[in-house]
Amino acid sequence: MKIDVVLSPPEIDLLPNRDLTGTTAVVFDVLRATSSMITALAHGAEEIYPVCTIEEAFALKVTMPDALLGGERHGDRIEGFDVGNSPLEYLAPRKRIITTTTNGTVALKACEKAREVLVGALLNTGALTDLIRLRQPGELLLVAAGTFRELALEDVFACGMLCAGFPEAELTDSARVALSLYRQYEGNVEGLLQTARNGRTLLAACREDDVAWCGKLDSQGVVGVLKGGAVRKV
Ligand code: MLT
Repeated sequence: MKIDVVLSPPEIDLLPNRDLTGTTAVVFDVLRATSSMITALAHGAEEIYPVCTIEEAFALKVTMPDALLGGERHGDRIEGFDVGNSPLEYLAPRKRIITTTTNGTVALKACEKAREVLVGALLNTGALTDLIRLRQPGELLLVAAGTFRELALEDVFACGMLCAGFPEAELTDSARVALSLYRQYEGNVEGLLQTARNGRTLLAACREDDVAWCGKLDSQGVVGVLKGGAVRKV
């Protein structure tokens, strides 16, 4: 298996032009989009529809009035939405959820032409590793969603953590960078999240519970897969 890593949003912009038909992609937005999706799936959500814009979210809501509208801009709940992007807002089971976030949903949509698109977080790295070991894809692309237009430390760390689970794999230099970062912060997830830009922003906004929840390694044994526009439990 060959593992490559997309480290930042400017690289994600190029993904739609890349031939991913033979590739399994895994998207990480640890703080907080993919952590919220994994939490929702682990607590009864059946379908999660990631979209890029607020307009798309409202338009989709018209076609599925029962769906929960969730998402954020600048970390806060969007006006007219039911919930924001805190994983702690997704503990009550909801059949269908529509979500739009600054980076996470954009990264997912950028990968949708891949052979398979999986949803990853620190919450489910173990389940993800088991699934990938089972599926043995030839090409694995790990996507670090980022924060606004910048690389996000926590997302690259999560990619590196997954790389560490496949010592036999062929790594690109980007994957080696992610693995090195993982080795640097291995065993100190709290320190990593307190150092990361978005971690500091969330802590400054008194969202320490969100940061703590997103750092709970392997606490959710589910993996999400994006198919036909919706994320569902594998
Ligand atoms: C994002 O998708 O940009 C993040 O998840 C935003 C956040 O929740 O703070």
